Amino acid sequence: MNRREFVTQTCMVCLGGGLLTTVLSACSSTHYVTGVIDPKGLTVLQSEFVEIKKDNTLTRSFIIVQHESLEFPIYLYRINDQEYSALWMKCTHQGSELNAAGDHLYCPSHGSEFDKKGNVSQGPAEKNLRSFPVSVTDDKIFIALT
Ligand code: FES
Repeated sequence: MNRREFVTQTCMVCLGGGLLTTVLSACSSTHYVTGVIDPKGLTVLQSEFVEIKKDNTLTRSFIIVQHESLEFPIYLYRINDQEYSALWMKCTHQGSELNAAGDHLYCPSHGSEFDKKGNVSQGPAEKNLRSFPVSVTDDKIFIALT
């Protein structure tokens, strides 16, 4: 093996390891919650944003709220204790379910991307995501399904 082959193979291993780490960390940080539904919306507990890792208490930046009666899940992003954004995880291009990746969402079908407030950041989608009003009372987060 010459120097060029060694460098090429070493870089490929590093890139592969880095990509795997990114994918695994994205998977492990996604927290799914089944919300409690009523005729006006969905409720989840604020404590769903708390994550205990090796004696450390962390705050998740987002959770995915689902319910069997909903066609698509809802991405619930925490701006602060009293402010959240709730986004319908249906791509506005051709209706595929979106994937969450930290502070943005992306579409596996054709690559559209949306920011944490649902604005299109990359096409082909042209319309922003559907969003829902969110209110916080005590330790409960209410997502109004309007
Ligand atoms: S369906 Fe999402 S980008 Fe086409």
